[in-house]
Amino acid sequence: MRLARIAGTGHFVPEKVVTNNDLAAAMDTTDEWIVERTGIRERRFAEAGVSGTDLAVEASRQALTESGWEASDVQFIIFATLSPDMYFPGNGVLLQRELGLPGVGALDIRNQCTGFLYSLSAADAYIRMGMYDRILVVGAECHSAGIRMDERGRDTAVLFGDGAGAVCLEVTTDADGSRLISHYLHADGRFAEVLCVKSPGAGQKPWLTTEMVDDGSSHPYMNGREVFRHAITRFPEVIMEALDGEGLTPDQVDVVIPHQANQRITDAVTKRLGLPREKVLSNIERYGNTTAASIPIALSEAVKSGTVQRGSLVCLAAFGSGFTWASSLLRY
Ligand code: ACO
Repeated sequence: MRLARIAGTGHFVPEKVVTNNDLAAAMDTTDEWIVERTGIRERRFAEAGVSGTDLAVEASRQALTESGWEASDVQFIIFATLSPDMYFPGNGVLLQRELGLPGVGALDIRNQCTGFLYSLSAADAYIRMGMYDRILVVGAECHSAGIRMDERGRDTAVLFGDGAGAVCLEVTTDADGSRLISHYLHADGRFAEVLCVKSPGAGQKPWLTTEMVDDGSSHPYMNGREVFRHAITRFPEVIMEALDGEGLTPDQVDVVIPHQANQRITDAVTKRLGLPREKVLSNIERYGNTTAASIPIALSEAVKSGTVQRGSLVCLAAFGSGFTWASSLLRY
């Protein structure tokens, strides 16, 4: 039977560290408010001219090296982001160009915080069906280009950071070994406007005006309380769905890697599942919320630190804009 396994991981964040105090110089906020409400102390912002694709190239190269692959081994690319370099074409083709892979297919996934897990599930399916043997899956964001760095942006600007993570997926036939086990994907579009960037959007004519920029609709809008309320229900639900599917209990999982949305959300989920804190990875303190990149960055860091080792049972889970929520269970 054909299955997919993670051959290697990579991540990259820009050098520039932006502390809460740096943000407090641009808007009415405080380090204390941000730390208490989100757990974030600092995040990375890309320098002007550095895009999400640029970050993805670095993360991808590290994943290729860790996997023992040449770039030419990649047969297909899946790229998840909500902050593409251009409205179209998507970042997939830009990454493909940078890696020097003309002709190799590239798919863009726009599922925000769950983008990496939706991407992983699609890559898994392609490999299982025999269409490809080796796929590069990337999540990357350049939020610093799109957040509003003034008073009116303070409720979302303090949350987000830039970064990229990547995994190389390859075919395996070892049904008990290193492999992706299952994916559960959900969405509820009734909440689409609770967390969104409306402009540019072809639901409006024209899709971008200076008024839209002035009124903030080209920056993220979030009803934070509504997001929190749904997140703390959906995260535990979708993690339990993954575990129940294999007849497992939370204590049998070695590591849970949640999308790094907000430390308060992660803490609430950890408590609801009765998990020990050390099993639930968190790096939001250093990077903020990097959306599609947060899970592959945390996974790659965990592999490098030895927290995730070959044989570890790992549950990845995400919730975010859409609303969408998802989990993936894997044996690393
Ligand atoms: N600094 C200081 N004050 C701020 C800031 C800021 N950066 N941002 C908003 N405020 C003010 C608001 O203006 C408001 O003031 P008011 O009471 O005078 O109107 C007040 O703080 C907001 O208070 P609350 O809404 O009570 O704040 P709350 O305790 O709910 O915290 C938060 C807001 C952190 C957004 C919370 O709702 C939350 O954790 N939500 C989850 C959303 C989230 O984390 N999303 C992550 C991105 S989406 C994802 O990845 C799933």
